[in-house]
Amino acid sequence: MKEKKTAAPKVKKIIIGNWKTNIFSSKEVTKWVTTYKKSVPKRHNALVAICSPSIFIPTLAAAKSPTILGAQDVSAFVEGSHTGEVTAAMLSGAGVKFVIIGHSERRAAGESDDMVAQKVRAALDAGITPIVCVGETSRDHGGMYLGLFKKQILGSLNGISKSDIAKCIIAYEPVYAIGAKKALEPQDVHSMTLYIKKVLIETLNLAAPCPILYGGSVFPETAHGLLHESGSDGLLIGRASVDPKQLTAIIAAA
Ligand code: PGA
Repeated sequence: MKEKKTAAPKVKKIIIGNWKTNIFSSKEVTKWVTTYKKSVPKRHNALVAICSPSIFIPTLAAAKSPTILGAQDVSAFVEGSHTGEVTAAMLSGAGVKFVIIGHSERRAAGESDDMVAQKVRAALDAGITPIVCVGETSRDHGGMYLGLFKKQILGSLNGISKSDIAKCIIAYEPVYAIGAKKALEPQDVHSMTLYIKKVLIETLNLAAPCPILYGGSVFPETAHGLLHESGSDGLLIGRASVDPKQLTAIIAAA
């Protein structure tokens, strides 16, 4: 009799593309999907979502992209007079499953930890998974940055229950590595991933950490190490996600 294989199924890596404002038309979105479908490996080990500008979410859905729909931001408001805002219910109605919250580019535009926490609440209430971005702006030799980093994590999740934090994804994105030439080394990501887990378990009393991603200048050349030697559960990718061929090369490394 043949022995049954009992190996545990491999946990899928989470790969999130963040197009930011680097895709400019519906035509470009459709072209992206066509190339993506041709280049994505038939078998791979990743759960892939694209966080598109809100206006192109319906285009991405209509183009039948095999990627999960994501958004780059969400309003903290549920309804009312808030010109220009897009609510979590609107995103959910458009099929969005993931939303980036507190990206450093939004924090640089004035978003506080408090606002981030309110947006996390709004996303969770609409059944959307928040991808909560945290990361230090710089490092000092004395390690003071770790205290500030912890404060940012706690502030961004303020008022969110343990069971709801467990439904979130945390993206560790050191600000100086975003839009830069080089990603952090996998071992540096590893120590920060461990630090985040420590905060989640020891300070926030979670039974187990939620998924933790790394983001900042990830390209196909560095993806393998950052996926498999950093202790992270996946990647948040900016520039390389705009090029479907680069993104699919990263997926192949998962
Ligand atoms: P990058 O962006 O990959 O272009 O550095 C990452 C991000 O901002 O999430």
